[in-house]
Amino acid sequence: MRSPQQAIFLEDSDHHLWLEYDLLPGAETRDVREAVRLALEVPRDSRVDSERRPRCVIAFGPVLWSRLATERVPQGLHLFEGIDGPEGHHAPPTPHNIWIWLHGDHHDENVAAALGVHRALRSVARLAAEEHGFRYRDSLDLTGFVDGTANAKGAERQVVALIPSRQRGGGGSHVLAQRWVHDLRRWEALSDAQQSKIMGRTKDGNEELKGRAMPKHAHVARTDIEVEGEAQPVYRRSVPFGGVREHGLYFVAFANSSKRFDALLESMFGVTDGVHDRLLDFSRATSGAYYFAPSQEDLDSALK
Ligand code: HEM
Repeated sequence: MRSPQQAIFLEDSDHHLWLEYDLLPGAETRDVREAVRLALEVPRDSRVDSERRPRCVIAFGPVLWSRLATERVPQGLHLFEGIDGPEGHHAPPTPHNIWIWLHGDHHDENVAAALGVHRALRSVARLAAEEHGFRYRDSLDLTGFVDGTANAKGAERQVVALIPSRQRGGGGSHVLAQRWVHDLRRWEALSDAQQSKIMGRTKDGNEELKGRAMPKHAHVARTDIEVEGEAQPVYRRSVPFGGVREHGLYFVAFANSSKRFDALLESMFGVTDGVHDRLLDFSRATSGAYYFAPSQEDLDSALK
């Protein structure tokens, strides 16, 4: 049994920080390995109290992972190519080579670790994107709805998130990272009942709408889907980001197959049946990429 990166499954962090890097042209593979090894030592810095140390997850874009570990590329790993819905909704592809997620209870330690990671990586890679997120009250999204309710629990999380051990890339995960910017002014002009019809759960009480009360365009209806009779669960670890000027959800999900992300996004954007997720009229994706978060063993051998 391969060991997954444990920090994927630690759910109690109050503060989150994501970094996305592009390799510099001409960066040598051996220098990239060395820089990533050094970067991954930073969050384990023994001078920081263990309780304050951030947890860290690293994932790689398809191009870099194929270069680092040709034998360990999971089936179906591909670049996110963006998505265009029939009614003009668009999700842009913003693929990068390295995705790093630091999370813990101390924002200062996340930032200190991010600075250290950056020092280690900057000779081989350029910082392309950075975002800081936070747990909002009782795991709410900024729309005021609880996010994560239907997520797998306990051991089921690993079944949903991890590629089975016997497959290539076993113990690793396909990752979708996507930054969504909300239009809260428009959202807050709606009543709670209208918002609940868009989300597919009640705002007050967090009950799933049942039967005819659940519109086809509701977010839950567009994402609780089956493909050829099979459910398409993903393990979501999204949290809100931003402040007054700009804010939204930094969507992160892990899955044992990249096809799940394709299926969910096609359903949300109305590619499958022409019905788009009404949430798209109140939030827009400003980034999006697929990554691969290898098992600890595959990571260690890729960086040797
Ligand atoms: C603006 C961005 C988004 C917001 C604010 C949002 C919010 C929510 C909320 C409030 C729920 C209901 C509670 C729950 O079960 O977690 C939910 C469910 C869900 N969302 Fe999202 N979400 C967003 C984007 C996405 C994206 C991009 C995907 C997939 C690619 C996705 C997949 C799901 C899934 C699979 C569920 C569970 C459906 C079920 O089985 O009941 N969401 N989301």
